[in-house]
Amino acid sequence: MQTFLHGRDLIGDLDFSKEEVETVLDVAWDLKRKRALNEPHAYLRDKVLAMLFFFSSTRTRGSFEAGIAQLGGHGAFIESKTTQISHGDTAKEIGEIYGRYFDGIAIRHCDWKIGNDYLNEVARNCRIPVLNMQCDVYHPFQCLADLMTIMEKKGRDLKKKKIVVSWAYAASYLKPISVPQSLVIQMPRFGMDVTLAYPKEFPLMPEIEQQAADEAKKWGTSFEIVHDMDEGMKDADVIYAKSWGPLMTTDDPVKGKALQDSYTDWIMDQRRLELAKSDAIYMHPLPADRNIEVTDEVIDGPNSVVYDEAENRLHAQKAVMALTMSYATIFK
Ligand code: CP
Repeated sequence: MQTFLHGRDLIGDLDFSKEEVETVLDVAWDLKRKRALNEPHAYLRDKVLAMLFFFSSTRTRGSFEAGIAQLGGHGAFIESKTTQISHGDTAKEIGEIYGRYFDGIAIRHCDWKIGNDYLNEVARNCRIPVLNMQCDVYHPFQCLADLMTIMEKKGRDLKKKKIVVSWAYAASYLKPISVPQSLVIQMPRFGMDVTLAYPKEFPLMPEIEQQAADEAKKWGTSFEIVHDMDEGMKDADVIYAKSWGPLMTTDDPVKGKALQDSYTDWIMDQRRLELAKSDAIYMHPLPADRNIEVTDEVIDGPNSVVYDEAENRLHAQKAVMALTMSYATIFK
């Protein structure tokens, strides 16, 4: 077990080794049990986490803020629009200055071709852990909660279990591609066979698809891409069907929306659920476009685990904060 995570950043899903992720999950389950038993677990007394948001949030904000408080610390909620960032504060300055006030900086910045670079620039210039609350490339804390949920429902040994990560239609907005990207590179390490399903204009970043194939080969699992939602569902143990924007095809929002609107039939419904194994679980990070992306029947049905999945954000994030922020000494 690799436990020495003090001072480490978590920006990309593979920043932590498989053994380190196993440690995170182990601690997360311990913290989940402690919370259920009302056992105090103030591992981060007097520590303060800066939570810098460039993009809205329900779950991420709530779970990080509740999590740091339950660990005995405090979360400072900071929206970029109420800072001097738009007046010139650079990523380097945020890293240097907030690194001296706080004990960890969590950032959500989903702007395409900007967010991940911003987080890395802050990380290069600060002395404390930088935690990725979602960028344009990765959503690692969502993925940790997803992995934790899958193991709770399907057992810790996921060898030969099939996850289908499928595109689905949404009408609300062009959603980031970070969730499917994190899933396809993380799940092979835990033995899952990954099927990625999308209409041909909706690929993930080519380097991520290549990394998913490389990880599958390394861990002896499979990675396949299909362009038919029904085909993707066949014999799946885990269905992760959600929307994302056609960012590899166009970053023009009007053209992207027009492309998206040509695939309204990619909805996760009961007929498709029945193509998977009878005990398949349905997952979605939320928010979902109800009855557009997924039917009420599926998301509120017996196969859906979306609320357990959302809950596990809290426990997984507490585990990473406790492991990375607990020392007074800086190790970066
Ligand atoms: N799943 C997720 O990240 O939710 P929020 O956008 O509400 O934080």
